[in-house]
Amino acid sequence: MKKLNILFVASEVVPFAKTGGLADVAGALPKALKKLGHNIIVVMPRYYKINKSKLTHIPGALGVPMGPMGELWAGIYSSTLPNSEVPIYFIDYEKFFGRGGLYDENGQPYKDNENRFIFLSKSAFMLCKKLGFTPDIIHVNDWHTATMPLLSKTRFVYDFANTATVLTIHNLQHQGEFFKGAIDVLEVGWEHFNPMEFESHDVFNALKGGIAHADAVTTVSQKYAKEIQTKEFGFGLENHIQAHTAKLFGILNGVDYSEWNPSIDEAIAKKYDTNDMSGKKACKKALQKHFGLKIDENIPLIGFVGRFAEQKGIGLIAEIMHGLKDLDLQIVMLGTGEKWAEFFFSDQASKHKHKFGVHVGYSDILAHQIEAGSDLFLMPSLFEPCGLNQIYSLRYGTLPIVRATGGLDDTIENYDPKSSTCNGFKFYEASGHALYNTVKWAVDTYYNDKENFDKMRKRAMKMRFDWTKSAKSYEEVYKYALEKRGVKK
Ligand code: ADP
Ligand code: GLC
Repeated sequence: MKKLNILFVASEVVPFAKTGGLADVAGALPKALKKLGHNIIVVMPRYYKINKSKLTHIPGALGVPMGPMGELWAGIYSSTLPNSEVPIYFIDYEKFFGRGGLYDENGQPYKDNENRFIFLSKSAFMLCKKLGFTPDIIHVNDWHTATMPLLSKTRFVYDFANTATVLTIHNLQHQGEFFKGAIDVLEVGWEHFNPMEFESHDVFNALKGGIAHADAVTTVSQKYAKEIQTKEFGFGLENHIQAHTAKLFGILNGVDYSEWNPSIDEAIAKKYDTNDMSGKKACKKALQKHFGLKIDENIPLIGFVGRFAEQKGIGLIAEIMHGLKDLDLQIVMLGTGEKWAEFFFSDQASKHKHKFGVHVGYSDILAHQIEAGSDLFLMPSLFEPCGLNQIYSLRYGTLPIVRATGGLDDTIENYDPKSSTCNGFKFYEASGHALYNTVKWAVDTYYNDKENFDKMRKRAMKMRFDWTKSAKSYEEVYKYALEKRGVKK
Protein backbone atom coordinates (compact mmCIF):
# COMPACT_ATOMS: atom_id res chain seq x y z
CA MET A 1 0.00 0.00 0.00
CA LYS A 2 1.16 3.52 -0.76
CA LYS A 3 2.34 5.38 2.35
CA LEU A 4 -0.28 7.70 3.74
CA ASN A 5 -0.32 10.96 5.65
CA ILE A 6 -2.54 10.31 8.67
CA LEU A 7 -3.91 12.78 11.19
CA PHE A 8 -4.97 10.92 14.36
CA VAL A 9 -6.99 12.94 16.86
CA ALA A 10 -8.00 11.78 20.34
CA SER A 11 -9.09 13.34 23.62
CA GLU A 12 -6.64 11.23 25.64
CA VAL A 13 -3.33 9.57 24.82
CA VAL A 14 -0.98 7.44 26.96
CA PRO A 15 1.30 8.49 28.66
CA PHE A 16 0.10 12.11 28.66
CA ALA A 17 -3.49 11.79 29.87
CA LYS A 18 -5.68 8.78 30.48
CA THR A 19 -9.05 7.88 31.94
CA GLY A 20 -9.53 4.58 30.11
CA GLY A 21 -8.67 2.32 27.19
CA LEU A 22 -9.03 5.03 24.53
CA ALA A 23 -5.75 6.48 25.79
CA ASP A 24 -3.99 3.11 25.53
CA VAL A 25 -5.16 2.75 21.93
CA ALA A 26 -4.26 6.32 20.97
CA GLY A 27 -0.77 5.84 22.45
CA ALA A 28 -0.10 2.56 20.64
CA LEU A 29 -1.95 2.35 17.30
CA PRO A 30 -0.18 5.39 15.77
CA LYS A 31 3.19 3.78 16.58
CA ALA A 32 2.14 0.57 14.84
CA LEU A 33 0.98 2.56 11.79
CA LYS A 34 4.27 4.42 11.74
CA LYS A 35 6.11 1.10 11.73
CA LEU A 36 4.14 0.15 8.63
CA GLY A 37 5.71 3.20 7.00
CA HIS A 38 2.92 5.77 7.26
CA ASN A 39 3.50 9.39 8.07
CA ILE A 40 1.29 9.92 11.11
CA ILE A 41 0.80 12.79 13.56
CA VAL A 42 -1.30 12.75 16.73
CA VAL A 43 -3.24 15.69 18.18
CA MET A 44 -4.73 16.04 21.69
CA PRO A 45 -5.50 18.84 24.18
CA ARG A 46 -2.79 20.21 26.48
CA TYR A 47 -4.64 19.53 29.71
CA TYR A 48 -3.55 21.38 32.81
CA LYS A 49 -1.81 18.31 34.24
CA ILE A 50 0.42 17.88 31.16
CA ASN A 51 3.57 19.68 32.14
CA LYS A 52 4.44 22.33 29.53
CA SER A 53 8.09 22.42 30.53
CA LYS A 54 8.60 18.89 29.19
CA LEU A 55 7.16 19.82 25.79
CA THR A 56 8.50 21.86 22.90
CA HIS A 57 6.75 25.14 22.30
CA ILE A 58 5.86 25.82 18.67
CA PRO A 59 6.01 29.54 17.93
CA GLY A 60 2.91 31.24 16.56
CA ALA A 61 -0.70 30.68 17.53
CA LEU A 62 -3.62 29.02 15.76
CA GLY A 63 -6.65 31.18 15.03
CA VAL A 64 -9.62 28.88 15.50
CA PRO A 65 -13.04 30.03 14.23
CA MET A 66 -15.72 29.23 16.81
CA GLY A 67 -18.92 30.72 15.39
CA PRO A 68 -20.65 33.05 17.85
CA MET A 69 -17.55 33.01 20.08
CA GLY A 70 -15.47 34.51 17.29
CA GLU A 71 -11.89 33.51 16.63
CA LEU A 72 -10.03 31.99 19.59
CA TRP A 73 -6.26 31.67 19.69
CA ALA A 74 -4.60 28.38 20.66
CA GLY A 75 -0.98 27.72 21.56
CA ILE A 76 0.80 24.64 20.27
CA TYR A 77 3.25 22.33 21.98
CA SER A 78 4.80 19.17 20.66
CA SER A 79 6.58 16.01 21.71
CA THR A 80 6.85 12.43 20.45
CA LEU A 81 5.13 9.26 21.59
CA PRO A 82 7.62 7.39 23.82
CA ASN A 83 10.06 5.07 22.04
CA SER A 84 8.96 6.29 18.65
CA GLU A 85 9.26 9.07 16.14
CA VAL A 86 5.54 9.76 16.06
CA PRO A 87 5.01 13.50 16.61
CA ILE A 88 2.24 14.48 18.99
CA TYR A 89 0.85 18.02 19.10
CA PHE A 90 -0.92 19.54 22.06
CA ILE A 91 -3.57 22.21 21.66
CA ASP A 92 -3.16 24.73 24.45
CA TYR A 93 -6.07 26.94 25.47
CA GLU A 94 -6.28 27.75 29.15
CA LYS A 95 -9.97 28.60 29.19
CA PHE A 96 -10.99 25.15 27.87
CA PHE A 97 -8.25 22.77 28.99
CA GLY A 98 -6.67 24.43 32.02
CA ARG A 99 -8.83 22.45 34.44
CA GLY A 100 -8.38 19.63 36.92
CA GLY A 101 -10.18 16.93 34.91
CA LEU A 102 -10.39 15.79 31.31
CA TYR A 103 -14.17 15.75 30.95
CA ASP A 104 -15.54 16.30 34.43
CA GLU A 105 -14.78 17.17 38.01
CA ASN A 106 -16.34 15.59 41.12
CA GLY A 107 -18.59 13.53 38.87
CA GLN A 108 -20.01 16.63 37.13
CA PRO A 109 -19.31 16.89 33.39
CA TYR A 110 -18.03 20.33 32.35
CA LYS A 111 -20.94 22.35 31.01
CA ASP A 112 -19.07 23.51 27.90
CA ASN A 113 -17.75 20.12 26.74
CA GLU A 114 -19.21 20.61 23.25
CA ASN A 115 -17.24 23.83 22.82
CA ARG A 116 -14.07 22.31 24.28
CA PHE A 117 -14.04 19.43 21.83
CA ILE A 118 -15.31 21.32 18.79
CA PHE A 119 -12.38 23.59 19.55
CA LEU A 120 -9.98 20.63 19.62
CA SER A 121 -11.42 19.35 16.33
CA LYS A 122 -11.17 22.67 14.53
CA SER A 123 -7.70 23.30 15.94
CA ALA A 124 -6.54 20.02 14.40
CA PHE A 125 -7.49 21.32 10.94
CA MET A 126 -5.79 24.65 11.55
CA LEU A 127 -2.68 22.87 12.83
CA CYS A 128 -2.41 20.79 9.64
CA LYS A 129 -2.56 24.01 7.61
CA LYS A 130 0.11 25.61 9.75
CA LEU A 131 2.40 22.56 9.47
CA GLY A 132 1.75 22.18 5.75
CA PHE A 133 0.61 18.63 6.49
CA THR A 134 -2.06 17.39 4.07
CA PRO A 135 -3.65 14.27 5.48
CA ASP A 136 -4.90 11.49 3.24
CA ILE A 137 -6.76 10.14 6.27
CA ILE A 138 -8.20 11.83 9.32
CA HIS A 139 -8.76 9.19 11.98
CA VAL A 140 -11.02 10.39 14.83
CA ASN A 141 -12.11 8.67 18.02
CA ASP A 142 -15.40 8.70 19.91
CA TRP A 143 -17.78 11.67 20.17
CA HIS A 144 -15.11 14.24 21.07
CA THR A 145 -13.75 14.44 17.54
CA ALA A 146 -16.75 13.04 15.66
CA THR A 147 -17.59 16.40 14.07
CA MET A 148 -14.38 16.31 12.02
CA PRO A 149 -15.77 14.16 9.16
CA LEU A 150 -18.47 16.74 8.38
CA LEU A 151 -16.13 19.68 9.00
CA SER A 152 -13.67 18.21 6.47
CA LYS A 153 -16.40 18.24 3.83
CA THR A 154 -17.83 21.68 4.65
CA ARG A 155 -16.09 24.31 6.76
CA PHE A 156 -12.58 23.08 5.85
CA VAL A 157 -13.24 21.51 2.46
CA TYR A 158 -11.05 24.00 0.65
CA ASP A 159 -7.89 22.47 2.16
CA PHE A 160 -9.13 18.94 2.82
CA ALA A 161 -11.05 17.99 -0.32
CA ASN A 162 -8.89 14.90 -0.90
CA THR A 163 -8.95 13.69 2.67
CA ALA A 164 -11.00 10.65 3.75
CA THR A 165 -12.24 10.22 7.32
CA VAL A 166 -12.44 7.22 9.65
CA LEU A 167 -14.31 7.26 12.96
CA THR A 168 -13.56 4.67 15.63
CA ILE A 169 -16.28 4.06 18.21
CA HIS A 170 -14.69 2.98 21.48
CA ASN A 171 -17.88 3.27 23.46
CA LEU A 172 -21.36 3.94 22.13
CA GLN A 173 -22.76 4.83 25.52
CA HIS A 174 -21.17 8.26 25.39
CA GLN A 175 -22.46 10.12 22.35
CA GLY A 176 -21.77 13.77 23.10
CA GLU A 177 -25.32 15.09 23.39
CA PHE A 178 -25.64 18.85 23.81
CA PHE A 179 -27.83 21.85 23.25
CA LYS A 180 -28.45 22.22 19.51
CA GLY A 181 -26.71 25.60 19.43
CA ALA A 182 -23.52 23.55 18.90
CA ILE A 183 -24.43 23.71 15.19
CA ASP A 184 -23.68 27.44 15.23
CA VAL A 185 -20.30 26.84 16.85
CA LEU A 186 -19.51 24.26 14.17
CA GLU A 187 -20.49 26.74 11.43
CA VAL A 188 -21.80 24.00 9.16
CA GLY A 189 -25.37 25.23 8.62
CA TRP A 190 -28.64 24.12 10.17
CA GLU A 191 -29.42 21.82 7.26
CA HIS A 192 -27.21 19.28 9.09
CA PHE A 193 -29.47 19.32 12.13
CA ASN A 194 -31.84 16.53 11.16
CA PRO A 195 -32.44 12.95 12.39
CA MET A 196 -30.19 11.48 9.68
CA GLU A 197 -27.22 13.55 10.85
CA PHE A 198 -26.70 15.43 14.13
CA GLU A 199 -30.19 15.52 15.64
CA SER A 200 -31.51 13.16 18.30
CA HIS A 201 -34.88 14.34 19.66
CA ASP A 202 -34.09 18.00 19.19
CA VAL A 203 -30.66 17.62 20.81
CA PHE A 204 -27.25 17.82 19.12
CA ASN A 205 -25.61 14.36 19.00
CA ALA A 206 -21.95 14.48 17.93
CA LEU A 207 -21.42 10.74 17.50
CA LYS A 208 -24.56 10.33 15.41
CA GLY A 209 -23.33 12.96 12.95
CA GLY A 210 -19.90 11.38 12.92
CA ILE A 211 -21.36 8.00 11.98
CA ALA A 212 -23.35 9.65 9.19
CA HIS A 213 -20.41 11.53 7.70
CA ALA A 214 -17.29 9.40 8.23
CA ASP A 215 -16.23 7.50 5.12
CA ALA A 216 -15.70 4.45 7.31
CA VAL A 217 -16.67 3.61 10.88
CA THR A 218 -14.90 1.07 13.05
CA THR A 219 -15.51 -0.44 16.47
CA VAL A 220 -12.89 -2.09 18.62
CA SER A 221 -14.06 -5.70 18.26
CA GLN A 222 -16.07 -7.64 15.72
CA LYS A 223 -18.67 -8.78 18.22
CA TYR A 224 -19.31 -5.20 19.32
CA ALA A 225 -19.77 -4.14 15.68
CA LYS A 226 -22.68 -6.58 15.56
CA GLU A 227 -24.02 -5.81 19.01
CA ILE A 228 -24.41 -2.07 18.41
CA GLN A 229 -26.92 -2.82 15.68
CA THR A 230 -29.31 -4.20 18.33
CA LYS A 231 -31.62 -2.45 20.78
CA GLU A 232 -29.83 -3.98 23.77
CA PHE A 233 -26.44 -2.41 22.93
CA GLY A 234 -27.35 0.40 20.53
CA PHE A 235 -28.10 3.11 23.12
CA GLY A 236 -30.79 4.47 20.82
CA LEU A 237 -28.51 4.63 17.75
CA GLU A 238 -29.14 1.05 16.56
CA ASN A 239 -31.34 2.07 13.62
CA HIS A 240 -28.92 4.79 12.59
CA ILE A 241 -26.03 2.30 12.71
CA GLN A 242 -28.01 -0.29 10.77
CA ALA A 243 -28.36 2.30 8.01
CA HIS A 244 -24.55 2.54 7.81
CA THR A 245 -23.44 -1.10 8.20
CA ALA A 246 -21.90 -1.18 4.72
CA LYS A 247 -19.06 1.02 6.01
CA LEU A 248 -18.85 -0.52 9.51
CA PHE A 249 -15.84 -2.69 10.46
CA GLY A 250 -14.76 -4.40 13.69
CA ILE A 251 -11.02 -4.38 14.47
CA LEU A 252 -9.78 -5.78 17.75
CA ASN A 253 -7.40 -3.62 19.79
CA GLY A 254 -3.87 -4.83 20.38
CA VAL A 255 -1.61 -4.62 23.40
CA ASP A 256 1.54 -2.57 23.88
CA TYR A 257 3.76 -5.41 25.12
CA SER A 258 6.56 -3.00 25.91
CA GLU A 259 4.31 -1.84 28.75
CA TRP A 260 2.29 -4.94 29.68
CA ASN A 261 4.75 -7.81 29.97
CA PRO A 262 5.74 -9.57 33.24
CA SER A 263 9.23 -10.38 31.98
CA ILE A 264 10.20 -6.69 31.76
CA ASP A 265 7.68 -4.98 34.05
CA GLU A 266 9.47 -2.62 36.45
CA ALA A 267 6.33 -2.04 38.52
CA ILE A 268 5.99 -5.57 39.87
CA ALA A 269 7.71 -7.30 42.81
CA LYS A 270 9.55 -9.86 40.69
CA LYS A 271 9.66 -10.39 36.94
CA TYR A 272 8.62 -13.75 35.51
CA ASP A 273 7.78 -15.65 32.37
CA THR A 274 6.55 -19.09 31.32
CA ASN A 275 9.94 -20.76 31.83
CA ASP A 276 10.16 -19.56 35.44
CA MET A 277 6.94 -18.70 37.21
CA SER A 278 8.46 -18.20 40.67
CA GLY A 279 8.22 -14.43 40.20
CA LYS A 280 4.43 -14.68 39.98
CA LYS A 281 4.32 -16.20 43.46
CA ALA A 282 6.42 -13.32 44.76
CA CYS A 283 4.04 -10.87 43.10
CA LYS A 284 1.06 -12.58 44.72
CA LYS A 285 2.67 -12.40 48.12
CA ALA A 286 3.52 -8.72 47.64
CA LEU A 287 -0.06 -7.98 46.58
CA GLN A 288 -1.53 -9.79 49.59
CA LYS A 289 0.82 -7.80 51.79
CA HIS A 290 -0.05 -4.51 50.09
CA PHE A 291 -3.75 -5.02 50.79
CA GLY A 292 -3.24 -6.53 54.26
CA LEU A 293 -4.74 -9.88 53.24
CA LYS A 294 -3.75 -13.22 54.69
CA ILE A 295 -0.46 -14.23 53.06
CA ASP A 296 -1.04 -17.64 51.57
CA GLU A 297 0.05 -18.74 48.13
CA ASN A 298 -2.64 -21.44 47.97
CA ILE A 299 -5.69 -19.18 48.19
CA PRO A 300 -6.98 -18.10 44.78
CA LEU A 301 -6.63 -14.34 44.46
CA ILE A 302 -9.02 -12.52 42.14
CA GLY A 303 -8.22 -9.04 40.81
CA PHE A 304 -10.38 -6.23 39.42
CA VAL A 305 -9.09 -3.03 37.79
CA GLY A 306 -11.43 -0.63 36.11
CA ARG A 307 -13.82 2.25 36.22
CA PHE A 308 -16.53 1.80 38.83
CA ALA A 309 -19.25 2.21 36.21
CA GLU A 310 -22.36 0.10 35.57
CA GLN A 311 -20.79 -0.93 32.24
CA LYS A 312 -18.14 -2.88 34.11
CA GLY A 313 -20.66 -5.11 35.93
CA ILE A 314 -19.97 -3.58 39.36
CA GLY A 315 -23.67 -4.05 40.16
CA LEU A 316 -23.29 -7.80 39.66
CA ILE A 317 -20.16 -7.93 41.81
CA ALA A 318 -21.90 -5.97 44.58
CA GLU A 319 -24.84 -8.35 44.41
CA ILE A 320 -22.69 -11.43 45.11
CA MET A 321 -20.13 -9.93 47.51
CA HIS A 322 -22.03 -11.40 50.44
CA GLY A 323 -21.89 -14.89 48.94
CA LEU A 324 -18.24 -14.54 47.92
CA LYS A 325 -17.07 -13.92 51.45
CA ASP A 326 -18.03 -17.51 52.30
CA LEU A 327 -15.83 -18.97 49.57
CA ASP A 328 -12.16 -19.73 50.06
CA LEU A 329 -10.80 -16.87 47.99
CA GLN A 330 -9.44 -13.34 48.15
CA ILE A 331 -10.44 -10.32 46.08
CA VAL A 332 -8.57 -7.07 45.40
CA MET A 333 -10.15 -4.18 43.57
CA LEU A 334 -8.73 -0.97 42.11
CA GLY A 335 -11.10 1.59 40.70
CA THR A 336 -12.87 4.88 40.96
CA GLY A 337 -16.17 6.19 39.73
CA GLU A 338 -19.68 5.81 41.08
CA LYS A 339 -19.78 6.93 44.68
CA TRP A 340 -22.06 4.13 45.89
CA ALA A 341 -19.54 1.60 44.59
CA GLU A 342 -16.53 3.35 46.12
CA PHE A 343 -18.36 3.33 49.45
CA PHE A 344 -19.81 -0.18 49.19
CA PHE A 345 -16.61 -1.97 48.18
CA SER A 346 -14.49 -0.05 50.71
CA ASP A 347 -16.99 -0.94 53.39
CA GLN A 348 -16.84 -4.63 52.45
CA ALA A 349 -13.04 -4.51 52.60
CA SER A 350 -13.08 -2.96 56.06
CA LYS A 351 -15.49 -5.65 57.28
CA HIS A 352 -13.59 -8.59 55.78
CA LYS A 353 -10.01 -7.39 56.03
CA HIS A 354 -8.26 -10.67 55.29
CA LYS A 355 -10.38 -11.49 52.24
CA PHE A 356 -11.16 -8.27 50.40
CA GLY A 357 -8.86 -5.39 49.59
CA VAL A 358 -10.03 -2.20 47.87
CA HIS A 359 -8.08 0.80 46.62
CA VAL A 360 -10.30 3.67 45.55
CA GLY A 361 -8.28 5.79 43.14
CA TYR A 362 -6.25 5.66 39.98
CA SER A 363 -2.82 4.00 39.99
CA ASP A 364 -0.94 2.67 36.98
CA ILE A 365 1.57 0.93 39.21
CA LEU A 366 -1.04 -0.86 41.27
CA ALA A 367 -2.87 -1.87 38.08
CA HIS A 368 0.31 -3.67 36.96
CA GLN A 369 0.78 -5.23 40.38
CA ILE A 370 -2.79 -6.57 40.39
CA GLU A 371 -2.34 -8.06 36.92
CA ALA A 372 0.84 -9.80 38.08
CA GLY A 373 -0.17 -10.87 41.58
CA SER A 374 -3.66 -12.25 40.91
CA ASP A 375 -4.62 -15.75 39.79
CA LEU A 376 -7.89 -14.71 38.21
CA PHE A 377 -9.17 -11.42 36.80
CA LEU A 378 -12.79 -10.34 37.14
CA MET A 379 -14.48 -8.55 34.24
CA PRO A 380 -18.23 -9.20 34.31
CA SER A 381 -19.11 -6.27 32.01
CA LEU A 382 -22.68 -5.65 30.90
CA PHE A 383 -21.19 -4.49 27.61
CA GLU A 384 -17.53 -4.18 26.57
CA PRO A 385 -16.54 -2.75 23.18
CA CYS A 386 -13.11 -4.38 23.43
CA GLY A 387 -11.74 -4.40 26.96
CA LEU A 388 -8.01 -4.29 27.47
CA ASN A 389 -7.56 -5.59 30.98
CA GLN A 390 -8.61 -9.14 30.13
CA ILE A 391 -5.97 -9.14 27.36
CA TYR A 392 -3.31 -7.73 29.70
CA SER A 393 -4.31 -10.43 32.22
CA LEU A 394 -3.62 -13.17 29.69
CA ARG A 395 -0.04 -11.98 29.29
CA TYR A 396 0.42 -12.09 33.08
CA GLY A 397 -1.02 -15.62 33.38
CA THR A 398 -4.00 -14.27 35.28
CA LEU A 399 -7.05 -16.06 33.93
CA PRO A 400 -9.99 -13.80 33.09
CA ILE A 401 -13.53 -14.44 34.34
CA VAL A 402 -15.67 -12.56 31.84
CA ARG A 403 -19.19 -12.08 30.60
CA ALA A 404 -19.61 -13.11 26.94
CA THR A 405 -20.02 -9.68 25.43
CA GLY A 406 -18.13 -7.57 22.86
CA GLY A 407 -14.37 -7.92 22.94
CA LEU A 408 -14.54 -10.13 26.03
CA ASP A 409 -16.37 -12.73 24.00
CA ASP A 410 -13.95 -12.34 21.07
CA THR A 411 -10.81 -12.79 23.18
CA ILE A 412 -11.74 -15.33 25.87
CA GLU A 413 -12.54 -18.98 25.24
CA ASN A 414 -14.34 -20.80 27.99
CA TYR A 415 -12.59 -23.43 30.07
CA ASP A 416 -13.05 -26.95 28.83
CA PRO A 417 -10.63 -29.63 30.03
CA LYS A 418 -10.70 -31.15 26.54
CA SER A 419 -9.89 -27.92 24.72
CA SER A 420 -6.35 -27.02 23.79
CA THR A 421 -7.19 -23.36 23.15
CA CYS A 422 -9.29 -22.23 26.14
CA ASN A 423 -7.95 -19.31 28.20
CA GLY A 424 -10.49 -18.28 30.85
CA PHE A 425 -13.97 -18.56 32.30
CA LYS A 426 -17.03 -17.11 30.67
CA PHE A 427 -20.73 -16.67 31.50
CA TYR A 428 -23.62 -15.41 29.45
CA GLU A 429 -26.55 -14.16 31.49
CA ALA A 430 -26.11 -10.71 33.06
CA SER A 431 -27.06 -11.88 36.53
CA GLY A 432 -25.39 -12.15 39.91
CA HIS A 433 -26.34 -15.80 39.97
CA ALA A 434 -24.44 -16.57 36.74
CA LEU A 435 -21.42 -14.57 37.89
CA TYR A 436 -21.37 -16.28 41.27
CA ASN A 437 -21.50 -19.75 39.71
CA THR A 438 -18.67 -18.89 37.34
CA VAL A 439 -16.44 -17.49 40.07
CA LYS A 440 -17.14 -20.63 42.10
CA TRP A 441 -16.32 -22.80 39.10
CA ALA A 442 -13.05 -20.94 38.47
CA VAL A 443 -12.07 -21.26 42.12
CA ASP A 444 -12.96 -24.98 42.13
CA THR A 445 -10.79 -25.44 39.05
CA TYR A 446 -7.94 -23.63 40.79
CA TYR A 447 -8.15 -25.98 43.79
CA ASN A 448 -9.09 -29.26 42.16
CA ASP A 449 -7.74 -29.20 38.62
CA LYS A 450 -4.36 -27.57 39.13
CA GLU A 451 -2.79 -29.23 36.14
CA ASN A 452 -5.30 -27.82 33.68
CA PHE A 453 -5.33 -24.47 35.44
CA ASP A 454 -1.57 -24.16 35.06
CA LYS A 455 -1.66 -25.31 31.46
CA MET A 456 -4.26 -22.70 30.66
CA ARG A 457 -2.18 -20.09 32.45
CA LYS A 458 0.90 -20.76 30.33
CA ARG A 459 -1.15 -20.92 27.17
CA ALA A 460 -2.66 -17.52 27.98
CA MET A 461 0.81 -16.05 28.53
CA LYS A 462 1.91 -17.18 25.10
CA MET A 463 -1.01 -15.60 23.26
CA ARG A 464 -0.29 -12.33 21.44
CA PHE A 465 -2.65 -9.54 20.47
CA ASP A 466 -0.30 -7.66 18.30
CA TRP A 467 -0.88 -4.05 17.25
CA THR A 468 0.81 -4.72 13.91
CA LYS A 469 -2.01 -7.07 12.96
CA SER A 470 -4.66 -4.52 13.95
CA ALA A 471 -2.77 -1.73 12.17
CA LYS A 472 -2.86 -3.78 8.96
CA SER A 473 -6.61 -4.09 9.30
CA TYR A 474 -6.84 -0.30 9.72
CA GLU A 475 -4.83 0.05 6.50
CA GLU A 476 -7.56 -1.89 4.72
CA VAL A 477 -10.19 0.41 6.18
CA TYR A 478 -8.19 3.48 5.10
CA LYS A 479 -8.06 2.06 1.60
CA TYR A 480 -11.81 1.56 1.63
CA ALA A 481 -12.40 5.10 2.92
CA LEU A 482 -10.17 6.64 0.25
CA GLU A 483 -11.91 4.70 -2.50
CA LYS A 484 -15.26 5.78 -1.15
CA ARG A 485 -14.12 9.37 -1.18
CA GLY A 486 -12.98 8.89 -4.74
CA VAL A 487 -9.31 9.56 -3.94
CA LYS A 488 -6.77 7.48 -5.88
CA LYS A 489 -3.77 6.28 -3.82
P1 ADP B 1 -12.43 1.30 29.52
O1 ADP B 1 -11.72 2.03 28.45
O2 ADP B 1 -13.87 1.02 29.21
O3 ADP B 1 -12.29 1.92 30.86
P2 ADP B 1 -10.49 -0.86 29.02
O4 ADP B 1 -10.39 -2.23 29.59
O5 ADP B 1 -10.43 -0.73 27.56
O6 ADP B 1 -11.80 -0.19 29.63
O7 ADP B 1 -9.28 0.02 29.53
C1 ADP B 1 -9.14 0.48 30.82
C2 ADP B 1 -7.72 0.95 31.00
O8 ADP B 1 -7.70 1.87 32.10
C3 ADP B 1 -6.78 -0.16 31.35
O9 ADP B 1 -5.49 0.17 30.87
C4 ADP B 1 -6.81 -0.15 32.88
O10 ADP B 1 -5.67 -0.70 33.45
C5 ADP B 1 -6.93 1.32 33.16
N1 ADP B 1 -7.61 1.65 34.42
C6 ADP B 1 -8.94 1.76 34.65
N2 ADP B 1 -9.17 2.13 35.93
C7 ADP B 1 -7.97 2.26 36.51
C8 ADP B 1 -7.53 2.63 37.83
N3 ADP B 1 -8.39 2.93 38.78
N4 ADP B 1 -6.19 2.69 38.05
C9 ADP B 1 -5.32 2.38 37.06
N5 ADP B 1 -5.66 2.01 35.83
C10 ADP B 1 -6.96 1.97 35.54
C1 GLC C 1 -13.66 2.02 25.57
C2 GLC C 1 -14.31 0.69 25.88
C3 GLC C 1 -13.33 -0.44 26.05
C4 GLC C 1 -12.24 -0.40 25.00
C5 GLC C 1 -11.58 0.97 25.00
C6 GLC C 1 -10.46 1.10 23.97
O1 GLC C 1 -13.40 2.79 26.66
O2 GLC C 1 -15.17 0.77 27.01
O3 GLC C 1 -14.01 -1.68 25.98
O4 GLC C 1 -11.28 -1.39 25.24
O5 GLC C 1 -12.53 1.95 24.72
O6 GLC C 1 -10.91 0.87 22.67
